[in-house]
Amino acid sequence: MSAPAAVVEIAGLSTRFGRQVVHRDIDLVVFQGEVLTLVGGSGSGKTTLLRQMLGLERPAAGTVKVFGTDLARATASGLESIRSRWGMLFQGGALFSALSVFDNVALPLRELKRLDEGMVHDLVMLKLQMVGIEPKHAGKMPSELSGGMVKRIAFARAIALDPELLFLDEPTAGLDPDRSEGFVQMVISLRAALRMTVVMVTHDLDTLVSLSDRVAILAHSRLVSVATLDETVALDDPFVHDFFRGARGRRALLARGGAVPPGGT
Ligand SMILES: Nc1ncnc2c1ncn2[C@@H]1O[C@H](COP(=O)(O)OP(=O)(O)OP(=O)(O)O)[C@@H](O)[C@H]1O
Ligand SMILES: [Mg+2]
Repeated sequence: MSAPAAVVEIAGLSTRFGRQVVHRDIDLVVFQGEVLTLVGGSGSGKTTLLRQMLGLERPAAGTVKVFGTDLARATASGLESIRSRWGMLFQGGALFSALSVFDNVALPLRELKRLDEGMVHDLVMLKLQMVGIEPKHAGKMPSELSGGMVKRIAFARAIALDPELLFLDEPTAGLDPDRSEGFVQMVISLRAALRMTVVMVTHDLDTLVSLSDRVAILAHSRLVSVATLDETVALDDPFVHDFFRGARGRRALLARGGAVPPGGT
């Protein structure tokens, strides 16, 4: 059996904002078809690491390759073809406030694929249906929607191009438990249909436990661990203790039927 292909390859990455060092010498490979979840305290640099993988931040040192291309060295047309292969759900689910629901989801289709409007219409309505948004909401503006709807529509936009690689930043934050579970099921079925690779940031243990193949922990500007969920749970690390060994963590792990760490609160 050949090894799975590397979709994202990060080597020796450092990120700085002025004098603040956010990432120091980070190495990370994301393999085709896996769900890799990035965890870490608030401000530990999770979103910034996703932004590095999207070519939205510049490395102070090191390289970020996606689909084999070094983002810092890619040509404009090279970047455009990569952008058509990934989708992103930003933290907070930001929609463009001046665009309708329909136009928000249509944006990547219009920008990156040269499709006629009839095709755009069919694809937008299909994606909205996939995330459980009724057609009657398509003409609404973001300000007329609930937070949960905004999130689902932002997700529809992220999957508009049937991406091979999907970045999700806190996809279930602010959703009620039923909606979170619905979201998890949606990602599971999409993964099966599209053979997607997913890089996700989440604080939500149920989401993490249901979806993750591997978990990467960011702390003190470094990746302190990249391991399977079971291996991660077994780590003797203060972050892991706090994150997984509380009542919610134990419940999420039990529900999955996996290992439950000893002790806890
Ligand atoms: N454009 C920027 N300019 C300056 N500092 C920034 C910028 N973007 C992020 N930072 C800083 O980098 C650090 C990491 O931020 P980041 O948003 O990546 O954290 P995070 O792990 O996603 O946090 P959270 O869990 O709260 O979303 C923070 O200290 C933040 O203030
Ligand atoms: Mg963040």
